[in-house]
Amino acid sequence: MSIGGYRLLKNINKIFISQTIRKASTKAEVNFQKRIFSGIQPTGGVHLGNYLGAILNWVKIQNEHSNITLSIVDLHSITLPQESEILKKRILEMTATLLACGIDPDKSTLFLQSTVPQHTQLCWQLSCLTTMARLAHLPQYKEKSEKLKDIPLGLFIYPVLQAADILVHKATHVPVGEDQAQQIQLAQHLAKIFNTKYGTTFPIPHAIIADDTSSRIRNLRNPTKKMSKSEPDPKSRIQLSDTSDAILEKVKKAVTDFTSEVYYDAENRPGVSNLMVIHSMLTGLSMEEIYQDANSKKLDTGKYKLVVAEAVANHLAPIREKINNYLSRPQYIYDILEEGRIHATEVAQKTLDEVNLKVGTILNTENNFVVS
Ligand code: TYM
Repeated sequence: MSIGGYRLLKNINKIFISQTIRKASTKAEVNFQKRIFSGIQPTGGVHLGNYLGAILNWVKIQNEHSNITLSIVDLHSITLPQESEILKKRILEMTATLLACGIDPDKSTLFLQSTVPQHTQLCWQLSCLTTMARLAHLPQYKEKSEKLKDIPLGLFIYPVLQAADILVHKATHVPVGEDQAQQIQLAQHLAKIFNTKYGTTFPIPHAIIADDTSSRIRNLRNPTKKMSKSEPDPKSRIQLSDTSDAILEKVKKAVTDFTSEVYYDAENRPGVSNLMVIHSMLTGLSMEEIYQDANSKKLDTGKYKLVVAEAVANHLAPIREKINNYLSRPQYIYDILEEGRIHATEVAQKTLDEVNLKVGTILNTENNFVVS
């Protein structure tokens, strides 16, 4: 496999398999078919955090374990203002990027969230089962709303839509980065509430979060924070679309510390440790191998940055080429999304029919009304 090396493959295997086996044996889940679902916002492009923390894991799962349903969640993106023409372009770019990273439409389902309205329909049902107090406590809402004078309602109920995304597909597993943990907990909570009120309908979805540092790739300019799309400084992240020169520039400017030796200590040396994580994941070298190599060549952190930049640039160049190749065939991208829509709609409508029947928000021919 061209991405990652043995260490990475072994790790993901271990994380995935151990969690799946453990969780799948829980009582509530025995009757549910294993289904894996995840989502990504089309805005802001794909950065190394998305790639290492989520996408690589999706490709790995798809190729070695099970098919996966992936949604490009445009309705989540519009919880903050977007320009329509740019949003459309970003959706195309995101689809091209996921394909270029190895998501295979013959194995997995890739669709645009807004084309499957069952997501928003279930969102409404679920929003009636939770409280404003519960949503107000979620950290991502707090963080994003802090900077706003007027807070859009969509931003507030964003996690309920995320729960609906997961539950409408009856997903049993959700591979994500660490920042999504609380949202998945809300989905678990809503599944339990619904099941208690209306009878078992949803599996309790489990987050698959790598227990190594890949689940939280750090901001290059401030390594105490995660790498993020919403960070204003573009030098804080490496985009998959960045040129080799831009990558070199960003890695050279990555904040480290005053110790020149290259060694891993995530707590006390988050900057250089983050670069080592990125380097290790993209080359398959272990931390020990990186440490030994840097020390035998007497590399200080400044020179080590050049090694990291080269590894990142070498890894991303073929992906960037593939992205451009897909982008030159927009009809192909639309066709993939249309196929995905058809498949996702089938699953989602089935769930929604069941929900509507249980909640009483549908009439079927077997209903007998007695007017007294
Ligand atoms: P989004 O678009 O912000 O991120 C997509 C995926 O990338 C992971 N990620 C990271 N992993 C490691 N280090 C980082 N610095 C880093 N930054 C981002 C995220 O954890 C995520 O897995 N709310 C979601 C999208 C969503 C979703 C869903 C996910 C909507 N519905 C249902 C799963 C299931 C989001 O904004 O992801």
